[in-house]
Amino acid sequence: MSYASPIKASLNRIAFVTGASQGIGRAIATRLARDGFDISIADIEPAKAKVDTVIDEIKSYGRQAIGVFADVRQPKQIEAAIAETVDKLGPRLFVSVANAGVTQVRPLLECTPEFIENEVRINVLGLMNTHIFAAKQMVKQGNGGRIIGAGSIASYRTAENLAPYGATKFAVRGFTEAAAKEWAQYGIRVNAYGPGIVDTPMWDHIDRELAKIEGITVGEAKAKRVKQDIKLGRIQEPEDVAKLVSFLVSDEGEYITGQTIKTCGGASL
Ligand SMILES: NC(=O)c1ccc[n+]([C@@H]2O[C@H](COP(=O)([O-])OP(=O)(O)OC[C@H]3O[C@@H](n4cnc5c(N)ncnc54)[C@H](O)[C@@H]3O)[C@@H](O)[C@H]2O)c1
Repeated sequence: MSYASPIKASLNRIAFVTGASQGIGRAIATRLARDGFDISIADIEPAKAKVDTVIDEIKSYGRQAIGVFADVRQPKQIEAAIAETVDKLGPRLFVSVANAGVTQVRPLLECTPEFIENEVRINVLGLMNTHIFAAKQMVKQGNGGRIIGAGSIASYRTAENLAPYGATKFAVRGFTEAAAKEWAQYGIRVNAYGPGIVDTPMWDHIDRELAKIEGITVGEAKAKRVKQDIKLGRIQEPEDVAKLVSFLVSDEGEYITGQTIKTCGGASL
């Protein structure tokens, strides 16, 4: 399957993407660059080398790209990352994608308060603060915008050994709806993508942890779920998620707001 989309002319607009050093974030950042957006990537310091390769790829499409480091657990760092983005690339922020997230795998009776807090700080508070700081900039600019968050099929149906994760993704769905209502008046659409089993380092991690809990070999948990659950018969690639985001931020997506849209090859059915 080919995921190469056409490299389009500049839209003179910026897309800000968190957690884009790898996986789904990387696919979104490079797809939006091909769509004509200049890109600002916010990720954590240890991801710098990978972020640099994404920046190189985006520049090869003729677009501008910068890395602005932010740990989304730190609201001030998110605020500074948005400020640096418009400082360096201009007040043209039109898209913000709060993609950064973590999955931790553990039976609920073994989850400590610290374990839960980390997941909530990244997946929920990080997303809320990213949305709010981005929306403030968009309101200041006065041209509307598109705000996208990382939901999941777990925004609709949770799974054993992933309870705090599922709860954070339910929260994403709720916040997406509420923010869409409040910010419609500014021409800002707010939506979330809801992937299933995507072939990224995150799912490799889930697979390794489930292997320990279920007493099976590495690779087995993922293979079993792909076979049982995915009606389209193949694992989801990060680019499948990027296609949805590309649509939502385009003119074609302008009547859609407040939605967490499942893109999972039928895994949620
Ligand atoms: N992989 C899947 O199957 C799947 C399914 C549904 C939803 N999602 C969601 O999509 C998003 C991306 O998932 P992925 O599979 O690409 O994950 P990944 O683990 O492959 O990549 C996560 C990215 O987030 C960055 N990151 C981690 N902690 C951060 C922090 N505190 N601040 C800033 N950046 C941070 C990492 O450096 C990395 O670039 C997540 O929110 C995830 O919950 C993934």
